[in-house]
Amino acid sequence: MIGWHEASRSFKIDTPHSSYVIALADEPAYAGHAYFGKRISDEDVSQLLRIAEPPYVPSRNARDKLSFLDTFPMEYPTHGVGDFRGSALKIRTKEGHSASELFYLRHEIVSGKPEAEGLPATFGDNASTLKLILWDEVCSLEVELRYSVFEDCDAVLRSARITNRGTRELFLEKALSASFDMDNEEFELLTLHGSWARERHMQRRRIGSGFQGVSSGRGETSHQHQPFLGLLSRDCTQERGEAYGLHLIYSGNFLGSVYGGQFDNLRISIGIDPEDFCWRLAPGESFLTPEAVLVYSDHGLGGMSRSFHDLYRRHLIRSVWKDRTRPVLINNWEATYFDFDEKKLLAIAEQAAKCGIEMLVMDDGWFGNRFDDNRALGDWKVNEEKIRGGLKKLTDGIGALGMRFGIWFEPEMVSPDSDLYREHPDWAIAVPGRKAGLCRNQYVLDLTRSEVRDHVFGLLTDILDSADIAYVKWDMNRQLADLGSLGLDPECQGELSHRYVLAVYELQERLIKRYPELLLENCSGGGARFDPGMLYYSPQIWCSDDTDAVERLMIQEGTALLYPLSVIGAHVSDCPNHTVGRVTPFETRGYVALAGTFGYELDITKISEEDRALIPKQVEMYHRYHGLFADGDYYRLASYSENRLYDAFLCASKDQREAVLVYVQVMMRPNHHSRVLKLAGLDPKRRYRLYRFVAETAEEVPFGADRAFYGDTLMNAGITIGGLWGDFKALLLHVKEEE
Ligand code: GLA
Repeated sequence: MIGWHEASRSFKIDTPHSSYVIALADEPAYAGHAYFGKRISDEDVSQLLRIAEPPYVPSRNARDKLSFLDTFPMEYPTHGVGDFRGSALKIRTKEGHSASELFYLRHEIVSGKPEAEGLPATFGDNASTLKLILWDEVCSLEVELRYSVFEDCDAVLRSARITNRGTRELFLEKALSASFDMDNEEFELLTLHGSWARERHMQRRRIGSGFQGVSSGRGETSHQHQPFLGLLSRDCTQERGEAYGLHLIYSGNFLGSVYGGQFDNLRISIGIDPEDFCWRLAPGESFLTPEAVLVYSDHGLGGMSRSFHDLYRRHLIRSVWKDRTRPVLINNWEATYFDFDEKKLLAIAEQAAKCGIEMLVMDDGWFGNRFDDNRALGDWKVNEEKIRGGLKKLTDGIGALGMRFGIWFEPEMVSPDSDLYREHPDWAIAVPGRKAGLCRNQYVLDLTRSEVRDHVFGLLTDILDSADIAYVKWDMNRQLADLGSLGLDPECQGELSHRYVLAVYELQERLIKRYPELLLENCSGGGARFDPGMLYYSPQIWCSDDTDAVERLMIQEGTALLYPLSVIGAHVSDCPNHTVGRVTPFETRGYVALAGTFGYELDITKISEEDRALIPKQVEMYHRYHGLFADGDYYRLASYSENRLYDAFLCASKDQREAVLVYVQVMMRPNHHSRVLKLAGLDPKRRYRLYRFVAETAEEVPFGADRAFYGDTLMNAGITIGGLWGDFKALLLHVKEEE
């Protein structure tokens, strides 16, 4: 799948449906980007480098070197020597210079993937890797560009390992993971944006000249932006047209940028945001960038999404829970907030158990003096005024009901009003001499210091060892600012943001190694750390604090653009919704949460009898269809964020024998009685019957004309959806091959 073509001095990296070609220029041998797109057969496409005659190559035309660098499609552009379109690498020498220039040194093509050195990364047996080693003679700097592919996935994985082979230290001021150039065929840029409670809304815009893109400097991936760039042909729709996707497997500051150049070309890059980054590289030391995922699809957005989903399901998530049906849980956050005790939790659990719910999760407020969000983070000892008799007694009580138990932590934080802070005020991230800013009345612990990490880990394991705990929700409720660490030399303060992310990874790695059966869910004030990096540690991530069914349609559409539904934390909550005040039917909330991990976030002892009666049926529904949502191929049939009226998506089993479809009529349209919905993902030649799920009985009843249709009829002509009266009405349809 990765070949070296000696005659043209080019590399061709093939995935099942795409090709990526790198070619070397004549002496000096710059590594150029020749092609990325739909799979091609020729090995030699080096003519795409378009080195004009007479050659602009500096060895033969030194007077125009800068003109050459202005056009050459550089595979890993460096700063300071005359390529002005944005660099992937910027260094600073001891003398203060920032120029570097990379030329081909050698290469290796190996099976498998090299070690990820403390970073999350894709893995798997069926991988092969190109190591393209570039060299800067003046600084003795080696850059190993890594390209990996898996036989069963349409994705190219890129990273760069930068080594100081000289005798003097160097500083990396920018070290991106991937960059490549191509012509601008009037692409549009797709990115994901939002805020707390409205994460990952899709935004599509024309690409203009100059720099545009996304970044986060918040120390985490953030509510506001996602480390993703999509480049779409103008005709790109859900299932047609071209889509390129770049996604970064990382949980900290990132930069994804597109530079529209003077010759209608684009430079696309992704990696760690250089804004808060400066890494000292002592002689002999190496720095490895996070891994970037590059996907090409000629089946529109849907094709791109399915490539990301397959890659993450097969080659990124490690948890034993990856392919297991997760327990249906009930979380007490929206039910009680901080106002609970063990009696209240047991009352919720008792009622939940009767409804078939399988796990109780005790959220924030169980420890130290935590009666509100102003105090006690860091004091991870059970508050026995609330949990009388201790944790073991509570979990035994939950266990006696036949339920598992889960618990909330926010291990990265410390409240000023906490025993931990009183004892170790210097453990909080702060710039000496400056009062650090609070956020939710808390500071961030300096986890780059091993003594702080060890202390936090000890507190976590004390709790986890003290009772039968099956699940942990690992939360993170503020961004990083006032970047200063007492553990770092002055010239290494710029390493803090990245070292912080590495420290979180190390802690989570220790946790899952010690408790391999633990179901870990990451969370950050809802979905502020919803990124592929986190998936390497936890098989699911809380998607958003907004549990309103309508807002969730948009959040989950943006999230499912990149992430498989099996990882999207989604719960049914009470109405009026606590975030937006909207009232939607309980049934609809259930279908929307089904496109995720599924659970409840409400006081089950207080909701109406009518709603409560639906819960056992929804639990049945979850167990019946979850496999299709979690493992199937995802197709978006309609987007409420686009049409402002209705939403529909479908998940088809890989063998195309069945599918499940959720349709939500968000807004009733007067005097409009039905609409046609075209299905997708079915086998045109097989015949299928459609059934509607009945919320009150969990039965399936025939939907529409009670007969079988060929897949091509269902996909090309469609089905009629009608008879739904009112806003927020929804349907769940099961499409089954006729026996
Ligand atoms: C964050 C989480 C919520 C809840 C609260 C508790 O906002 O996203 O689900 O756990 O913290 O403080």
